Amino acid sequence: MVALCAQSLASPAATRSERLLRDGWRFHLGDVTEAATPQFDDSKWQRVSIPHDWAIAGPFCETLDLQNVAVTQNGEKQASLKTGRTGGLPYVGVGWYRTTFAADTSDGRRTTLVFDGAMSEAHVYVNGQEAIFWPCGYNSFHVDVTDLLTVGTNTLAVRLENHPESSRWYPGAGLFRNVHLVETGRVHVGVWGTYVTTQVVGDPTEPTEARVTLQTEVMGAEGQTLRLVTRILDDEGNEVAMRENRQKVNHGAPLTQHLLIPEPQLWSPETPYLYHAVTEVMGDSILLDTYTTTFGVRTIEVVPDKGFLLNGEVRKFRGVCNHHDLGPLGAAINRAALRHQIALLQDMGCDAIRTSHNMPAPDLVELCDSMGMMMMVEPFDEWDVAKCRNGYHRFFGEWAERDMENMVRHYRNNASVVMWSIGNEVPSQGSKSGWKTAAWLQDICHRLDPTRPVTCGMDQVARVLDNGFAAVLDVPGFNYRTQYYEQGYERLPQGFVLGSETASTVSSRGVYKLPAQLKAGATYDDHQSSSYDLEACWWSNTPDEDFALAEDFPWTMGQFVWTGFDYLGEPTPYDANAWPSHSSLFGIIDLASLPKDRYYLYRSIWNTDAPTLHILPHWTWPGKEGQTVPVFVYTDADEAELFVNGKSQGRQHKATKAESDSLREAGDPLWLQRRYRLMWTDVIYEPGTLSVITPDGRSASMRTAGIPHHLVLEPDRRVIQADGEDLCYVTVSVVDKDGNVCPNDNSLVRFAVKGAGSFRAAAAGDPTSLEVFHQPQHHAFSGRLTCILQSSTQAGKITLTATAKGLKRGILTVETKKGIGLSPTPPHKGGAKDGSNGSNGLNGSNGQSQEQWLSIQEMLTHARTHIGTRYRRGGTTPAGFDCSGFTTYLYKRLGYKLHRSSRDQFLDGTLVTGALQPGDLVFFARGKKQNRIHHVGILTQVNADGTFDFIHSSTSNGIRIDNSAQAYYASRYCGARRVISN
Ligand code: GAL
Repeated sequence: MVALCAQSLASPAATRSERLLRDGWRFHLGDVTEAATPQFDDSKWQRVSIPHDWAIAGPFCETLDLQNVAVTQNGEKQASLKTGRTGGLPYVGVGWYRTTFAADTSDGRRTTLVFDGAMSEAHVYVNGQEAIFWPCGYNSFHVDVTDLLTVGTNTLAVRLENHPESSRWYPGAGLFRNVHLVETGRVHVGVWGTYVTTQVVGDPTEPTEARVTLQTEVMGAEGQTLRLVTRILDDEGNEVAMRENRQKVNHGAPLTQHLLIPEPQLWSPETPYLYHAVTEVMGDSILLDTYTTTFGVRTIEVVPDKGFLLNGEVRKFRGVCNHHDLGPLGAAINRAALRHQIALLQDMGCDAIRTSHNMPAPDLVELCDSMGMMMMVEPFDEWDVAKCRNGYHRFFGEWAERDMENMVRHYRNNASVVMWSIGNEVPSQGSKSGWKTAAWLQDICHRLDPTRPVTCGMDQVARVLDNGFAAVLDVPGFNYRTQYYEQGYERLPQGFVLGSETASTVSSRGVYKLPAQLKAGATYDDHQSSSYDLEACWWSNTPDEDFALAEDFPWTMGQFVWTGFDYLGEPTPYDANAWPSHSSLFGIIDLASLPKDRYYLYRSIWNTDAPTLHILPHWTWPGKEGQTVPVFVYTDADEAELFVNGKSQGRQHKATKAESDSLREAGDPLWLQRRYRLMWTDVIYEPGTLSVITPDGRSASMRTAGIPHHLVLEPDRRVIQADGEDLCYVTVSVVDKDGNVCPNDNSLVRFAVKGAGSFRAAAAGDPTSLEVFHQPQHHAFSGRLTCILQSSTQAGKITLTATAKGLKRGILTVETKKGIGLSPTPPHKGGAKDGSNGSNGLNGSNGQSQEQWLSIQEMLTHARTHIGTRYRRGGTTPAGFDCSGFTTYLYKRLGYKLHRSSRDQFLDGTLVTGALQPGDLVFFARGKKQNRIHHVGILTQVNADGTFDFIHSSTSNGIRIDNSAQAYYASRYCGARRVISN
């Protein structure tokens, strides 16, 4: 034994490696008795790559997963036939996956499989022997399979089974998230084996130091004394703290280390700054393992009467709930699609996501860390009482604690996660003893992670106020029931109320129903809902109510809107016997990733960095000449004037609370909406131009469209990564000869793709369309649709041609390159610091998921060729420039030091690159105003005459910077004479 230990301690191979098992899998739909055995011949099975969703290709069918239920949380007493509840896709059944892998079976090496999620009831076999069973399809789990390995090739087989009536939405099917193979030495840090907590010292908005506590669980070293060397690196790879300890491993107790980071950079949605704790586990002088933990420094508090504080500052969640599916891509996880979603949400001003109602993919959590999005992570839609006949309640008793443990251990180091939820609208909330289960689950969170508050989404609000359920939670989360907020605040001990789920307004993109009226549960023959944003469910409300609650009551914590994106399944209000409806109408953004009008309503309130001026409806109403067509404008401006063909329709201003209250007295049904929208309800339609002008001179207009003439293709990025996974979202519009979108067109558009990529999916966001997503043709909906292209691993050009009968074709070329994108994506947890890729030496050893970093030179070159592009932190420019971490990256790279002492004054621009030359790009200042971090990163270009052109400014934290303010800063502090963009 002693000899063995000595040998493994000395083994040079005793380091960690991690890779994804991505390609080379075989898949079979249906049960097969011998499929687990190594000898089984799977050569006839379908070849697939993981992540894979076996059901998304459809076809859609009315009879798939029909559910005859009374949805009690929707107030139903009688069962009715629910069609399309899970999307009408073939997710039910048994599916088998098989692959082989080589593993290092030399003495002492350990091999662990990590599944990010497997839908569902996974039985994992290695060389014919069952290694683990894990029922919850959304949760990550891991298993050490060392003892099942053989020398040479090993066979991995996974059996999954989805029961009918097991979900209330489309769950996806299969190995829809990544599978990792982790190899370590005998002595190693376990999966999710570290826990970092931070405590800041001094002013929480500008701390002088962060005290970091790292707990590390070392496996395979019971009774041994080890040396732990932990270095904390900032996001540039500079060492900012180091600690070395010799400690004895004692009965599994984690080894604790304390470190100090001086003048820490705080994590927030506006400044998503990440640190990396790189821990080397040494036996004597031999390196046994290296484990990297990415974390952020930030404080979270929940305080009576104030609500939620991040870094000492009160903020109200501007959040959305999202299901896990990626629309036409189904549930198969794809980083580019997630990044696209987050960027769209951030542009709306959204700062938080609730992972309703299940554990997220780690990819989403990592992107939220690096792009700056807070998260409420939620595990369950069911506890022990069923909502679905075959739902999670079958497993709750035996598995809930294990599922909670995996979720909390997995994500407790992620800066973006600011709150745990223990469930959504669980029926037990109404029972007398429901609070005990809530307390038990909350205690699990507190035990594993005392740093984050815990909530639960409650819809039986009248009951939970009485039965102790709401009182037991750290944060009472109300789903809808706005009428109870004040009572909740008065009666509950916490002193605040969170809108854990809000609005559930329904709308179909580009569809407007006349007259424009507030309605609950309205249905129409075409199975669409109106985009005047006045329709909700009986239990829910329009966005205006939630805005008012946030504005009027300091103790409200903000909200998580149901939902950010439309999802497959739950086609309320067309859920009972209403085929072909099969996807939701709740989304602010539709299934094709196209924003609905509501997007701009939220944006006008939430995005305080950029102006919003959006008119609805469209202005093409043949046959409605001379009739009333109400016009709404969603804008941050308080007032505007509307014109039809140059004729003023008068000015409207946003009502103050007092004005709105008197409108209510006077019986105006839209009294509340008038606080947040500008509405002209009696405009008489005549074809031509509809335009709106704000008092500060901003304008927007739209014209009546003529006959459909050609197709316009607009990519979200013109350059994408040649990594075989990156995506380009192309918006396809049917326009007239002058380029006006034809809002009533539904042409069938066909796609042909050539070159360095392929067609991935198409969608139009029509919840009644039964067209599958993976065929290169799709009908437009309200004049638009989305075509998604995927890169290959070869750099080059992708050419997309879109054709439709009677229309001039559209052609688009997108470039694919190796190594584009400025991605602060952290190294994978546990990745070795091998420096093999990228410029910061932080990338993990996972060869398949590494992201390349741009050099400063490449980045500046790129920026130069795209002058005039508006960059947004965390977003991606149309030219493919990923701006995640842009600001931080720039000032760090250019050596500009933050002036930490500056308060209430703006720092002037300091020359950072030596003598300025024409064409130089310079990044300037950051400052604080009114005690709020007020980030004004300005990128300018120097002209030949010594003047500056303003190119980009990134701002943050609630101070509105509009065009003129940006121009002002650019000229006042950077000497810019001419504003090019924004
Ligand atoms: C809530 C529920 C969500 C969704 C929503 C639709 O009650 O938590 O999952 O069903 O209603 O309004």
